[in-house]
Amino acid sequence: MDTLKPRSGVSGEFLAQMSYESRANIAIERCRKLANFSEDAVGTRRTFLSPSMRDCHREIAGWLAPMGVEVRIDAAGNLRALYRGPDRDAPRLLIGSHLDTVPNAGAFDGILGVVLGVALLESLAGKRLPFAIELLGFSEEEGVRFGAPFIGSRALVGRLDAELLSRTDAKGTTVRQAIEDYGLDPGEIRSAAVTGDELGYLEFHIEQGPVLEEMNRALGVVQTIAGQSRLEFVFAGSTNHAGTTPMNLRRDAMAGAAEWIGAVEREAHRVAELVATVGSLAVKPGAVNVIAGEARATLDVRHGSDESRHAAVETLTGAATDIAVRRRLSVRHSVQLNQPSVAMDPALARQVEEAIRRAGCEPHRMVSGAGHDAMILAEKIPSALIFLRTPGGISHDPAETVRVEDVAKAIEAGSHFLAHLAASSAVQRRTHLA
Ligand code: HGY
Ligand code: MN
Ligand code: MN
Repeated sequence: MDTLKPRSGVSGEFLAQMSYESRANIAIERCRKLANFSEDAVGTRRTFLSPSMRDCHREIAGWLAPMGVEVRIDAAGNLRALYRGPDRDAPRLLIGSHLDTVPNAGAFDGILGVVLGVALLESLAGKRLPFAIELLGFSEEEGVRFGAPFIGSRALVGRLDAELLSRTDAKGTTVRQAIEDYGLDPGEIRSAAVTGDELGYLEFHIEQGPVLEEMNRALGVVQTIAGQSRLEFVFAGSTNHAGTTPMNLRRDAMAGAAEWIGAVEREAHRVAELVATVGSLAVKPGAVNVIAGEARATLDVRHGSDESRHAAVETLTGAATDIAVRRRLSVRHSVQLNQPSVAMDPALARQVEEAIRRAGCEPHRMVSGAGHDAMILAEKIPSALIFLRTPGGISHDPAETVRVEDVAKAIEAGSHFLAHLAASSAVQRRTHLA
């Protein structure tokens, strides 16, 4: 494993000669380094514009400095790094992913896509392409701090709106305030938007599931990203004494939520390709000898078909109401996210598949059950999502990992993709080099 890290003064030809495996080892080391930047003493948690996100930005800027790449943080907290083209108005290719994490996260979800972007820039070793490359590190894709995902990428498509800016975190801080606290100006959010005539957006991401490993494939090319609904249900009953309240006189919110959680799981098993998850449950007052008066449960519903997803949400909302009525509870729900499923750009996907074959791999076409920033960028520009095999299919957990040989293949395929794009007549025409 190559121990030399690119640092100022490393010669261009050395960088150009470095093997893909060496670059892969450096990329994996960098992901693990960024995992140390956390809001928690134990485990990785890095949320929207937290101090650990600032540390992350600084570290990445340090990797990019030797290449003379300009790094800035836009008004939505996204890291933006421009590897210049032949002139200021050269068309841009965007490469990136998200830098925020879930609680107790692994080291690669999102982060690997940004680190691979750095590796591709380094592999150019200062060579100018007929287009610019903008590296993106999105500020919040998971939606942990404010319950709203895609805050960073929504700014790039002009959807970081007043409603989202007014969302509050557990301490009552709004998105707007968090932006100001970071030293950024929410009034500048509009300038974070893409123009719409970018060449495209490329996102490398771990699959976070078992498919590529089952098929013994290193890389996958996503055709469609499944839509997702995120809701919160609040069951309300009567707090009371656990010892003196007969069972038939109870209005137990926890028991009602528990019955509903079972209904959620049964419905997800019943409908093909549906996944539905109650990921968090908070009860009040939460004491061993007190009947819960309130149970707050989140619901995450996903399906490749929006119609099936909406039908499932309707069924599960109805189930909550039926259970509440029978148990003399009340129940209310709020929708945190209604994200339609999104097709990736077929032409860009074909170019990516070709590049993967040039790297000596056979790509697997697949649907993504996880949401990704590519589904937001795809609203404005052609977007492609490349999956790397996830050993054990484990993600959103410290056991999340990658294989160095798959990371090497991803960098090699990315290099082929850049070379092919540089040679393509479409780009030549757009950069008046034809
Ligand atoms: O939950 C997801 O779909 C992804 O991890 N953001
Ligand atoms: Mn994730
Ligand atoms: Mn992710």
